[in-house]
Amino acid sequence: MSTAPMSKPQSYKLVAEHVGIQYRVKRTGENLQAVRDVSFQIKPEEFVCIVGPSGCGKSTFLNAVAGLMPHNRGQLVLDGTKISGPGKDRAVVFQSPALLPWRTVVGNVKYGLELRGTDKQTMMDKSMEMIKLVGLSGHEHKYPNELSGGMQQRVNLARALASDPELLLLDEPFSALDAQTREVMQNELLRIWQETRKTAMFITHQIDEAVFLADRVIVLSKGPGSVVSADIEINLPRPRNEASKADPEFLSKVAQIRQLILH
Ligand SMILES: Nc1ncnc2c1ncn2[C@@H]1O[C@H](COP(=O)(O)OP(=O)(O)O)[C@@H](O)[C@H]1O
Ligand SMILES: [Mg+2]
Repeated sequence: MSTAPMSKPQSYKLVAEHVGIQYRVKRTGENLQAVRDVSFQIKPEEFVCIVGPSGCGKSTFLNAVAGLMPHNRGQLVLDGTKISGPGKDRAVVFQSPALLPWRTVVGNVKYGLELRGTDKQTMMDKSMEMIKLVGLSGHEHKYPNELSGGMQQRVNLARALASDPELLLLDEPFSALDAQTREVMQNELLRIWQETRKTAMFITHQIDEAVFLADRVIVLSKGPGSVVSADIEINLPRPRNEASKADPEFLSKVAQIRQLILH
């Protein structure tokens, strides 16, 4: 008797299944369900953007994936293991670069590795490699206050990548930058992602930024109590550049998502 081969189940990097996240509001003593029911998957090496109106729970969701916040419904699974706290398989880049002001660029990049007890030479080699990757060669010994906002975010990115995470989490990392620097950094991020192929979950409230960067855009509904209102494939060829923004696919997806968010 022969048995048909089992089809291999699609292995996802991240699975979010009916995730709900709530805050206890100290002032009132009540619970606020910030995220109600969020389900989607991220495949290995995929670049997924999450967009949604301000206050819909994007940061809350990212913090739960980072393990910095508990979820009260559903489950979050990374590489087959339920997320129940922070771990070195994830690295986060926040909007404001959380750099240590008394440490140089290389000191900041090394920081995460030091906490992990990596040996000195490996730590130095890895840090220098990441500094080169993010385009900061020659600035290794500068202090954060000598760097522009864009450069500080490059350091943050280098630090996140130095720990070689399975999943890179980015929460509006370019929102505090001026428009021109922001565009440069979007291009730089895509170049770096193309080189490292890190699975990425990138949060933004800017629709054009999401479509420009992503393989897929998850649209969250208005919060609090958000759900996924759309999961949209972006079929824009890579590598992407300024010309991509004139591509009919780019324009139609931006319009479609804008309609979803504004409706
Ligand atoms: N520490 C907190 N305590 C109570 N409510 C919070 C807290 N942080 C955020 N919220 C609420 O949770 C909802 C989602 O917030 P947030 O995740 O920051 O949204 P977004 O990042 O999409 O702008 C909002 O209604 C916000 O007011
Ligand atoms: Mg936010």
